[in-house]
Amino acid sequence: MSAAIFAFPEMLAQARALGRSCGLPVHPVAMRRFPDGESLVTAQAHGARTALLLRSLDDPNAKLVELLLASAALRDGGASRVILIAPYLAYMRQDMAFQRGEAVSQRVIGRLLAQWFDGVMTVDPHLHRIERLDQVIPGIPALALSAAPALIAALAEGLDPATVLVGPDSESRPWVASIAAPLRLDMLVGEKVRHGDRAVTLDIPGISVVKDRPVLLVDDVISSGGTLIACAALLRAAGASGIEAVATHALSSPADMARMAEAGITRIRATDATTHTAATIPLAGVLADAIRAAGWLN
Ligand code: R5P
Repeated sequence: MSAAIFAFPEMLAQARALGRSCGLPVHPVAMRRFPDGESLVTAQAHGARTALLLRSLDDPNAKLVELLLASAALRDGGASRVILIAPYLAYMRQDMAFQRGEAVSQRVIGRLLAQWFDGVMTVDPHLHRIERLDQVIPGIPALALSAAPALIAALAEGLDPATVLVGPDSESRPWVASIAAPLRLDMLVGEKVRHGDRAVTLDIPGISVVKDRPVLLVDDVISSGGTLIACAALLRAAGASGIEAVATHALSSPADMARMAEAGITRIRATDATTHTAATIPLAGVLADAIRAAGWLN
C-alpha cells in the first residue's frame, strides 16, 4: 500500500473515520512518557510511501515535539512523503509582536512545520493579517480548509428557520455568511474589542431582530468562552428565545463550559478537530475530499 494514515492515540476515532472515507489503512502511533517527562514515540511506516500523520495541536507544546519525532520515525522507516493533517493548528493567532520582545509564534511554528513535513492541511486556521497558509508555512503545499460544509450538514437537521446566526466580530463575517446563505438564515455580525485573555466588550448592530427568535452563535474558535459569554449577555437582554453556539474548534476547559452554560448558552457543538466534549461534528468528509484533491492518496 503506498499511502496510509498514522494516528496519535487521542485521534484514533477520527483517523478510522478518515481511513474509511479515503479507503486507506490506519496505523496507530505509539507513545510512552519516561519518568522525566520525555516522550518515546514509535511510528512504523508499514510500507507506506506517503504517510498522512493525523494530530491536532490543541494543548500544543508536548504534542508538537511528539509530532516531529513521529515524522522522523516514519521517514526512517521508508516513507518518502510525510503529510501533517492537523485539523486544529495551534499558534496561528500570534502573527506579529504586539509588544516589544514578543515572539511571532505563527512564523516560528510555520517554519518548523515546513522543515519536517512535505505538506500540511488544517481547518479554519486563525489567520488575521495573512491571507494564505502557505505564507506561514513556506515552500510546501499548505492547505487551509473550511469546516463550513460539515457545519452546514450538521446544522441543517431540525433547524428552526427563524434562527438568527450571529458572528461575534467583523472577521467572522465571510465565514458566518457562507453558513447563513445555504441555510437561508438571517445573520448579524458584532463589533468586538478585546481587552485581555478573557475580557471582551461587544456591540451587535441590528440586535433587535433577535427578539423571540432562536440565536446560533458561530465562531471559529472557542477558547476562554469570553467572546460567547459577552454575546449571550447582549442577546438575552435583546429577548432571544434561545442561544446555542457552534464552532470549528472547541478548546475551552470544563470550568469555562460551565460559565457559558450559566450565561444561557444551552448547547455548544464543534467539529471533531479536537477531542473536546463538544466535538461532535465529523470532519472526515471534508478532509478526505481535500486529501484526494491534493493528490495525497498514493
Ligand atoms: C477571535 O478573533 C476568534 O474568532 C474567537 O472569537 C476567539 O478566539 C474566542 O476566544 P475566547 O473564547 O477566549 O473569547
